Amino acid sequence: MDERVVSAESTETEEITEQQLRPALLKEYIGQDEVKDNLSIFMKAAKLRQEALDHVLLYGPPGLGKTTLAAIIAQEMGGQIKTTAGPAIERAGDLAAILTSLEPGDVLFIDEIHRLNRVIEEILYPAMEDFCIDIVIGKGPTARSVRLDLPPFTLVGATTKAGMISAPLRDRFGVLSRLDYYKPDDLAKIIHRSAQVFDVELTKDAEVEIARRSRGTPRIANRLLKRVRDFAQVDGHDSISLDLAKHALERLQVDPLGLDHIDEKLIKGIIHRFNGGPVGIETIAASIGEESDTIEEVYEPYLLQIGFIQRTPRGRVATQSSYTHFGLEYRKDG
Ligand SMILES: Nc1ncnc2c1ncn2[C@@H]1O[C@H](COP(=O)(O)OP(=O)(O)O)[C@@H](O)[C@H]1O
Ligand SMILES: [Mg+2]
Repeated sequence: MDERVVSAESTETEEITEQQLRPALLKEYIGQDEVKDNLSIFMKAAKLRQEALDHVLLYGPPGLGKTTLAAIIAQEMGGQIKTTAGPAIERAGDLAAILTSLEPGDVLFIDEIHRLNRVIEEILYPAMEDFCIDIVIGKGPTARSVRLDLPPFTLVGATTKAGMISAPLRDRFGVLSRLDYYKPDDLAKIIHRSAQVFDVELTKDAEVEIARRSRGTPRIANRLLKRVRDFAQVDGHDSISLDLAKHALERLQVDPLGLDHIDEKLIKGIIHRFNGGPVGIETIAASIGEESDTIEEVYEPYLLQIGFIQRTPRGRVATQSSYTHFGLEYRKDG
């Protein structure tokens, strides 16, 4: 069994199904009402002015719909989307090639934009502000700088680490949208929609059960749905009932709050090895043999959200809810 069943990061094989599951239009995009309402107004206004939409920065934990939203923006604005990622742009020429291939109204989507290197970032500034780039042609004494005009385009940047984006880059985005964890209701709607795409039937209460265990994350909801469907198919059921869903989720070791054994290891690590904290993230990571980046970007945000751990200046602390959830006695200042 894939032990990262509730990790919000996507695998390569998953990317293929994600394509099928992605809503194509803003009205099909479930939840995140504030983000949607704002974007829809900005897009309408840009269309009325016959301009490209202002540059958009999407930030929030993995699996919440940033890539999906970038594609929707392109679709709604009637442009094409060109996709790349911060670490993939190594040289100035790479970026220049992408930028000069854009057509008016296109969307350039840069995922993990916090990982762009500074030299590349500086080329992006005039591209974003004035739709032009300066490139150096030739080498040595005959080298000269040429200014190239670009068509009006929209840069959509996505990041899980908004704090790591430099101020000058951040300031050049006209729209900053933060995606939050989804409410169980919205996740149930997403599961309902995905079930139609997969052509599986499940009862309302089964949808709700999967939704509750999806850590507020559509990517996880879709993954759990797929795994539950596997159990149903193998056991010869046409439709997924609440009992079947619960049984499958237990077999997948996804607990009622959507926590898996890595969350458990993390929390119990803080409790047992560090007396409940405070303890630094690097120290916990090393003690349980996980990457601190993965903990910080994938596991911790949800545990903070549900109030299972707290961040203090001296490190992470396990809260009383954590102790209760894992059936441990809570002793303050023990
Ligand atoms: N608001 C939404 N409505 C329906 N499905 C969604 C929504 N947000 C995300 N999804 C689904 O969740 C999966 C992960 O979304 P994605 O855009 O790749 O997340 P991110 O880029 O933030 O990691 C996609 O398959 C997408 O279909
Ligand atoms: Mg993405």
